[in-house]
Amino acid sequence: MAIIGTDITKAIELLMSGKLVAIPTETVYGLAGNALNEEAILDIFGAKNRPQFNPLIAHVDSLGKASQFVTEIPPIAVRLAKAFWPGPLTILLPRNRRIPDLLTAGSPLVAIRIPNHPLTLKLLQQLPFPLAAPSANPSGYISPTSAAHVQAQLGDKIPYILDGGRCKVGIESTIIGVNEDNEVLIYRLGGTSLEAIRSLVGDVQFAQATHEKPDSPGMLKSHYAPQTPFRIGIVEEMLPTYDREKVGILHFSQSFSAVPSKQQRQLSPSGDLREAAQSLFSAMRELDGLGLSIILAEYVPAEGLGLAINDRLTRAAYQE
Ligand code: TXA
Ligand code: MG
Repeated sequence: MAIIGTDITKAIELLMSGKLVAIPTETVYGLAGNALNEEAILDIFGAKNRPQFNPLIAHVDSLGKASQFVTEIPPIAVRLAKAFWPGPLTILLPRNRRIPDLLTAGSPLVAIRIPNHPLTLKLLQQLPFPLAAPSANPSGYISPTSAAHVQAQLGDKIPYILDGGRCKVGIESTIIGVNEDNEVLIYRLGGTSLEAIRSLVGDVQFAQATHEKPDSPGMLKSHYAPQTPFRIGIVEEMLPTYDREKVGILHFSQSFSAVPSKQQRQLSPSGDLREAAQSLFSAMRELDGLGLSIILAEYVPAEGLGLAINDRLTRAAYQE
């Protein structure tokens, strides 16, 4: 099992010697290693059982550091970075030669973000390299939002988990790029809302990805999936089909008297989408751990962070 603690010096020592450390961010926990070290990158892919065609995000602590690894930062990207960094926004930028092919899976673009977590920012400030960090979960499973989540699934594969408490945003970063017409391209919905991005840059485009050749494999149809079968619809309509003792319910704000309350999670009883995003993945994990035969979920309102929440629900429910 991994040691869980808040010792930055220890995390630095491990990372400097090429080892992996799980790190807290405001979105989800990351499985971090030296982004310039191919062996560390390979270890990340191995620990997660992640296909090597799925590139990793490089985390830095300043725009200045980001610029050391790219050939240019388009003005519209600078505006977004200045508005949202540190924060849940990842920007795809043309990489320079310091970035290994392995990190970007051969793409000429590198994904960069400044995470907004005090411990991890302190760590990044003291490291001479960016940190490659995908979400610290086995490939395809639900992302971790606490140190205990990481321990449960990757604890036997890494020496140390830097404990930064419960993630405040709770869903992964929004990923954007800039196209030839200098328009913002959305690759993944996430912790920075579309409304917030549009209010800064106007209209945005959506990157087209297919299941076979994803532009951003976070867009693979099946992802974030619990082990228990997961179905989305109107809970009240789906409920009569199932044995109430074996059914779990994941709802935005409502509870259902027909089902034992321990089998239900309300993401935000007060109807707050930010709170719902923060509790989404832990609620999915908890329900997944109850040995139920099905989890019934309902979409949340499709605005603000609700779009990213609904995206994760869709992927959790997707079956090949
Ligand atoms: O909030 C987050 O973004 C978290 C925390 C740890 O920072 N990280 C995260 O990483 O969600 P990961 O690896 O689980 O998801 C990163 C996504 C993947 O879907 C990957 O395909 C996409 O970013 N990505 C990375 N580099 C890319 C590139 N060069 N072009 C297109 N997509 C890229
Ligand atoms: Mg992930």
